[in-house]
Amino acid sequence: MTTAPPEGRSAVPRDLIDLDLGTLNREVFESGPLLRTELATVFTRSWLFLGHESRLRRPGDFTTAVMGQDHVIVTRSRDGRIRAFLNVCRHRGMRVCRADSGSATRFTCSYHGWSYDGTGALVEVPNHDDGYEGRLPLDRWGLVPVTRVESYRGFVFGCWDEDAAPLAEYLDGYRGVLDWATDGLDEPELVGPIKWRLQGNWKLAAEQFANDTYHPQTAHLSATSLLGVNMPTEGRELGSRYGHGWTIILPEDPNYAAFTFGRDPDSAEPGHQALIHGTVFPNFSMLGDRVLRVWHPRSVDDMEIWSWVLVDASWSPEQRRQAMRMATLTFSSTGIVETDDSENWSEIQAVGGGHVTGRTALNYQMGLGSTTTGDPAVPGFTGEVGHILNDVGARAFYRRWLELMEGPAPTLPQTAPAPMPAPHGH
Ligand code: FES
Ligand SMILES: [Fe+2]
Repeated sequence: MTTAPPEGRSAVPRDLIDLDLGTLNREVFESGPLLRTELATVFTRSWLFLGHESRLRRPGDFTTAVMGQDHVIVTRSRDGRIRAFLNVCRHRGMRVCRADSGSATRFTCSYHGWSYDGTGALVEVPNHDDGYEGRLPLDRWGLVPVTRVESYRGFVFGCWDEDAAPLAEYLDGYRGVLDWATDGLDEPELVGPIKWRLQGNWKLAAEQFANDTYHPQTAHLSATSLLGVNMPTEGRELGSRYGHGWTIILPEDPNYAAFTFGRDPDSAEPGHQALIHGTVFPNFSMLGDRVLRVWHPRSVDDMEIWSWVLVDASWSPEQRRQAMRMATLTFSSTGIVETDDSENWSEIQAVGGGHVTGRTALNYQMGLGSTTTGDPAVPGFTGEVGHILNDVGARAFYRRWLELMEGPAPTLPQTAPAPMPAPHGH
């Protein structure tokens, strides 16, 4: 069935994905118009990872982030509240903050010197009296605020949709993963980000982390042999209502110990799990060894990766070095595991532009029809669960993607122009 595209959109995603059949048309990774729709719906209606509170301890501390393609500043204001706003000067559109993180009482634009305070308010305009004759209404030209900012266990998220479910509900069963990542850390803090670019649509990476424990046995064969790790066989693949997906391994798996990343595998009890990897829909991913990722869409075939390692402030320099060394060896831009994935994503993108290729369906049928709702091995999780080799996480990801792509875009915060009052005496 062909439906008319929603107003202002030029692509019809419903025709590209059939979740009952478990197929996806690869145009999903190739279409520029689809990316515009993603930015207007998926990235505005989802909670997006903005950073960690360890970077925002004191008033004035800030970090920068990207929401879709919108650059934002996240800062703890003087009143203690964490706020976020577009990192874009209201005058001519320059980026007002060019550092990754730091501390500042003001953000002053390097182009003409407009200056904003920690709440985003425009507080100083050079030549306001002689250039603008004192008439510019400063209160109408503050930085555009992100509609909602909420945290869970120090992870800060932002959302443009005032009707979105609260963050705690949005994270659904995934809260357990974030708990797992921070349990045992007294004072979690992020090291990074390391940033790099990669040819490939952002979803190729996000869906793999939401789902795919099928590829390591082939794609990472040399890396896993080098590391002496056998891929697990006794885990579960999970997919949740809001599109998050992740893979866990259970203590019964003989390879469990290799995936507990420094935790004591002998303390594992029933219900204990080790995370392989997961994605908070749409583009915030995590690996079991506490490597965090955001996959930013730079264009339809180009993503920018921001990658951090979660460590603890109390760790010794040696422990910290060890965590960094492991992350660099495996999952940095040149890591022995990372490069296997990068190569595959870039190649998928490179061959996808063909006319016939672009009309060929891809297969997401693994585990189709054999998943369950909930599982005793995953207490408290009510989403869809399948055997570790499964596409349930990817199907959950695309179910949510489709839902947002076909739905309305939210009302965005006040971005309308403000008139200039008439000159005095007129
Ligand atoms: S662009 Fe920022 S002050 Fe002109
Ligand atoms: Fe991989």
